[in-house]
Parts: sequence; C-alpha cells; structure tokens
Amino acid sequence: MGKKVVITGVPGVGKTTVIEKTIEALKSEGIEYRAINFGTCMFEVASSKGYASDRDEMRKLDQGLQREFQKAAASHIAGIEENVIVDTHSSVSTPQGYLAGLPEWVLRELKPDVVVLVEADEDQILKRRLKDASRNRDLEGYRDILDHQQFNRFMAASYSMMTGCTVKIIHNPDFLLEKSVANMAELLR
Ligand code: AP5
Repeated sequence: MGKKVVITGVPGVGKTTVIEKTIEALKSEGIEYRAINFGTCMFEVASSKGYASDRDEMRKLDQGLQREFQKAAASHIAGIEENVIVDTHSSVSTPQGYLAGLPEWVLRELKPDVVVLVEADEDQILKRRLKDASRNRDLEGYRDILDHQQFNRFMAASYSMMTGCTVKIIHNPDFLLEKSVANMAELLR
C-alpha cells in the first residue's frame, strides 16, 4: 500500500490548487501521487441515488445520508494501492452545525499517514470565494471562517489522537502559492 495523505481546509482556501501543483512538481522528480476528491466520490453516490444535483447541495442533506455517502467514499478510497492524496474536509459546516469530515468509521478505512490543514487569512479566503462564480458557496463572513478554521484544528488533533497520524499545517497566502507548494512537496517526498 502507498502513502495516504489527507488534505483539508475550509472551502476556497486553495487546497485543490495546492494539490494539483504539488502533484505536478513531484511528478517531475519521478514521485507519483493520485489525487482523489472525497466530495466527488460522495457526490457520485448521492447523485446516482437522486439525492443531489450539485456538490454544494450535499452539506444540506440529512445527516444520516451524508454519513452513508462518507462511508461509500471511504471504502472506495481505501482500496487504492498507489500513493494517494485525499482532498477533503476536517469538518463540514452544515445547517445543523459542524459535521466531522473524518469520523471514526472513515478514519478506520482510510488509515491516513498524515492529515494536512491548508490555512490562509480569513479575508483572503473571503475574497477567493467571492471571485469564484462557478460554486454555490454559503455566504459567510470573516468571523464564520475564523471559527471554522479553528474548529478544524481541534478536529485534526482528535484525528491524530485516534490514529497516531501526524498533523501538518500549510499556509497558503496570496502571492505565495509557490511556497505553499514547496512546503507540501517536502512533506510528500
Ligand atoms: P470540496 O470538493 O472540497 O469543495 P469545497 O469545499 O467547496 O472546496 P474547493 O475544492 O472548491 O475549494 P479549495 O479549497 O480546494 O479551493 P481552490 O483550490 O478551488 O467539497 C465539496 C462538498 O463535498 C462539501 O461541501 C461537502 O458537502 C462534501 N464533502 C467533502 N468531503 C467531505 C467529508 N469528508 N465529509 C462530509 N462531506 C464532505 O481555490 C479557490 C480559489 O483560490 C481559486 O480561485 C484559486 O485560484 C485561488 N487560490 C488558491 N491558492 C491561492 C493563493 N495562494 N493565492 C491567491 N489565490 C489562490
């Protein structure tokens, strides 16, 4: 089995961007990682059953359904033998409160080597969300994003306690994407 790296961060922090650029950088050194988007795996199940027609609807679904889709995504990813980067969330902000992105039954399947928190200043995240018209993001202010980033750290600490994985924080500030990618690549080598 290859390495399992779980990469998390609030929506719009830039985790997908950092992941794509890191994979490219490592490929040029002969190191291969496959990126899997956990939300896409969940969405494939949710849409095939007629529960969601876009990814942003999933966090509004009944909690039991979201758990069912989490389980399906986790068992699909657990079967992948190559080095894998799982693009997901430490917690998901739902109308009922924060939902653990990696509850015990997901962690047991995934067995991550490391959980990464990609973080940025809240005002920069807000601007990135506002620029991205392709997504149906929740309207949140500075304080909501701050609370969510803090909560994600608490959750990551509990994931580390449960599995023994390490937790790495990678900052992804404006104009310094290359530095974020270099830090991520160093972790994955
Ligand atoms: P997901 O697919 O993760 O979508 P998301 O939360 O909306 O996050 P994105 O991937 O769109 O944003 P990103 O942080 O990757 O930012 P990006 O790189 O695009 O999840 C979808 C849904 O799936 C969730 O809502 C949830 O329902 C469900 N889900 C997923 N995992 C789950 C789990 N474990 N349990 C339960 N449900 C789960 O970048 C954003 C913008 O910033 C871009 O314009 C980019 O160019 C820009 N940018 C990036 N870096 C920089 C930089 N350094 N400087 C300037 N601009 C930058």
